[in-house]
Amino acid sequence: MLEGRTVLVVGSTGGIGEAVYRLCCEQGATVIGTGRRRDEGERIAAEAGGRFVPLDITDDAAVIAFFADLARGGVVIDGAVNNAAMTQDAAPLDSLDLAQFDRLFALNVRGVFHCLKHQMAAMRGRGGSIVNVASIAGQRGFPGLALYSASKHAVVGLTRSSALDGAADAIRVNAVLPGTTRTEMFDQQMLTRPGGEASTVARIPLGRVSAPHEQAQAIAWLLSDQSSFVTGETLAVDGGTTVR
Ligand SMILES: NC(=O)c1ccc[n+]([C@@H]2O[C@H](COP(=O)([O-])OP(=O)(O)OC[C@H]3O[C@@H](n4cnc5c(N)ncnc54)[C@H](OP(=O)(O)O)[C@@H]3O)[C@@H](O)[C@H]2O)c1
Repeated sequence: MLEGRTVLVVGSTGGIGEAVYRLCCEQGATVIGTGRRRDEGERIAAEAGGRFVPLDITDDAAVIAFFADLARGGVVIDGAVNNAAMTQDAAPLDSLDLAQFDRLFALNVRGVFHCLKHQMAAMRGRGGSIVNVASIAGQRGFPGLALYSASKHAVVGLTRSSALDGAADAIRVNAVLPGTTRTEMFDQQMLTRPGGEASTVARIPLGRVSAPHEQAQAIAWLLSDQSSFVTGETLAVDGGTTVR
């Protein structure tokens, strides 16, 4: 589905991003992955047959230098996946503080905005497809997850408006909204989620959490021409959780 395409996966060192990276390689794309963990990123890149560049997307200067290096190296991206994010420990809003807000928004919103800005600039006049990985928490409220949920609502807002900004240049921007997916982030969320995994699964009509490759398949479809008339859309991949 992605033969001849060059795809950037921001946050490729584990979980959903790793699954996206591997699937895009399998589908014939030239894939560049990023993340802070160099060893993981390089191991996955060597196994899957792509490239890896270490990058912390909360480091403004590093993001600017990364996109400048791509351009200088003649790399032209056709697709980009903004997957990097962090979650929060479940806690009521009045127990949260500004430092937590700043840390989470620096990555989940500011970092995504900064990457999206450079990706759109690189695609101007040529077109492309960008997929932001939001969450079903970007569509509805979840007790104890106010900051994470607010950050993912912001990603949905960035997606919808940037889709309009990019449309005249054939730049499509969509968001995938994963439901609960078995990754390191999932393990961390289960530590503080009241009722743990059993109560989470009980809310999922398909009766299980998703595997990272199930999210990757939806993301690859949005990157490909098979979704050529889809833009500004939010695609929940959640086993039916949000249609209840
Ligand atoms: N798992 C779920 O149940 C679930 C549900 C809904 C939505 N999501 C969303 O799906 C996406 C992937 O989640 P996941 O569960 O696969 O998470 P994960 O296993 O924790 O992976 C997160 C990825 O983001 C990268 N990352 C974190 N901080 C970064 C930074 N400052 N700069 C660059 N990269 C950074 C990590 O790489 P390094 O550590 O190497 O930097 C890693 O590759 C996230 O946007 C998440 O919000 C997940």
